[in-house]
Amino acid sequence: MSKRLETLESLVDTKKVFDVGCDHGLLAISLSKNHEVVASDISEACVIKTKANVEEAKAKVNVLQSDGLKELDINKSDTVIIAGMGAYGVIKILKASIDKVPNTLIIQANNNYDILRKEVTNLGYYIDIEKTLYLNRWYVIIRFKKGIKKYNKMDYLLGPDPSKEFVLFNLKNYQNTLKKIPYRYFIKRIKIKILIHNINRVYNLH
Ligand SMILES: C[S@@+](CC[C@H](N)C(=O)[O-])C[C@H]1O[C@@H](n2cnc3c(N)ncnc32)[C@H](O)[C@@H]1O
Repeated sequence: MSKRLETLESLVDTKKVFDVGCDHGLLAISLSKNHEVVASDISEACVIKTKANVEEAKAKVNVLQSDGLKELDINKSDTVIIAGMGAYGVIKILKASIDKVPNTLIIQANNNYDILRKEVTNLGYYIDIEKTLYLNRWYVIIRFKKGIKKYNKMDYLLGPDPSKEFVLFNLKNYQNTLKKIPYRYFIKRIKIKILIHNINRVYNLH
């Protein structure tokens, strides 16, 4: 298992867990050593692949075909993991089955973390744990729990308690983006300059 999948697994703190969008089923198989596991995917080919991997590993995993949470029987006390999808795909899955979404979500989106944090907290969750992981690129893994906490723009942008390395990486990204924007797009440039200024100010990087 990759460090990313191991980190996802380490965050599971409930008896039953659903790995939604399981693809190969490797995470589900590993989770099945200590948890009751359902692995699901929208793709029939992925369901077949996961079933074969589960059988080969002699693991106990219930493998189902499901678009998001639609075909899944989830209790509030369970955990749903959604990893390796775009943030908009994750949000779409959650909103399509809002009555089923449990109290614990573990999400690793591939992009748009700011939108993910904002949208999921707007659904009545708070960020319980957030881990940033540098492998060949940065990965952000967030455990959300049901409840309300207030967040500001910077919390949404980089997470409530980001590591200095992650902040510096993002700062550099914005600085590089700014260099590439022609002067005629001055509003876009000003927005990014404000962002850079705020990152420097909030995280004391001057
Ligand atoms: C890139 S793979 C990630 C696999 C695994 N979760 C991981 O993190 O390594 C994304 C998987 O999500 C599945 N998927 C995409 N949309 C889905 C949906 N609406 N419901 C269930 N699975 C979905 C795809 O078929 C694919 O297997």
